[in-house]
Amino acid sequence: MAFPTETVYGLGGLATDPKAIRAIFKAKNRPKFDPLIVHFSGLEMIRKYGIQLGESELKLAKKFWPGPLTLIVKRPKQIPSLVTSGLDTMAIRIPKHKVALRLIEQLGHPVAAPSANPFGYLSPVTAQHVEEQLGRKVEMILDGGSCSVGVESTIIDVSTRKPKFLRPGGISITEIERTLGKGLAKDSSSKKPHAPGQLKSHYAPKKRLILLSRKRILERFEKAEQKRENIAFLFFTAPPARRKQSPIPMLVLSEKGDDKEAARKLFSHLHLLDGSDALYLIAEKPDPSGLGHAILDRLTRASKKRDSR
Ligand code: TXA
Ligand code: MG
Repeated sequence: MAFPTETVYGLGGLATDPKAIRAIFKAKNRPKFDPLIVHFSGLEMIRKYGIQLGESELKLAKKFWPGPLTLIVKRPKQIPSLVTSGLDTMAIRIPKHKVALRLIEQLGHPVAAPSANPFGYLSPVTAQHVEEQLGRKVEMILDGGSCSVGVESTIIDVSTRKPKFLRPGGISITEIERTLGKGLAKDSSSKKPHAPGQLKSHYAPKKRLILLSRKRILERFEKAEQKRENIAFLFFTAPPARRKQSPIPMLVLSEKGDDKEAARKLFSHLHLLDGSDALYLIAEKPDPSGLGHAILDRLTRASKKRDSR
């Protein structure tokens, strides 16, 4: 079943049921080495599964849950290793969306869910995106409107002594480090196959996407407008006013350059432009501060060729 969370739509199944887990991998065409995130409705449910949260984890949990934060902890015995692709660690999070929380509460057990898109493609932030991308492969889609955060959760590995940062997402690293009162270690294992969110090509549109700096995208846009080239542009902030009425397709993530608004619109805009008849897409490289870090990460991976995965 697909369901909304505050980050992106998830494709969920009971985390304790191997049959449901196999169905998720199949529907997404997801490689077996890519572990799933297990969603809980609250700290009580996490404790019921015997998951111990240490001092640092509790600090993060209390500050950011429910919310777009995923922690890597030791996997409890009740969760089949199919969920974690054989790893003895497991990704957990409490989502901040009332439909997701009600679903998990009513089931009384955690829900394993990756994003509800075919493996490697653009993430879904509306029920329509799920319908378009997975269609008949999912039995049911719970429509909870569009996702308020718009990029996936930030992943922190707290299973080792020094908390390690694995994936930029809906909470900035600065906020996490401030809460922990110390710096995070960088992930040195990004080439290992257990982190496909970190594969070079991921989160990608069907069309080719090119990433350019502000200066270069403005030059390219002017040329494309003059020649009426059939290219679609995705700006981080608005281009100069005189260019607003463009004869060619273009969208802006945030007129004011607000990183949260830009994150919320990122995948919707990419879905729209990918569905246009443009030959290819050109996007502006954002400043990597705040949620710009996650946006830059997704755009960079979206711009890599699929065969270089
Ligand atoms: O916001 C989100 O996190 C969304 C919503 C649905 O909760 N979910 C999501 O799931 O983005 P997915 O499957 O698209 O990405 C999960 C990422 C993968 O890159 C996977 O490698 C990593 O989490 N992951 C899961 N378990 C892990 C583990 N034990 N160690 C390291 N990375 C892990
Ligand atoms: Mg995903």
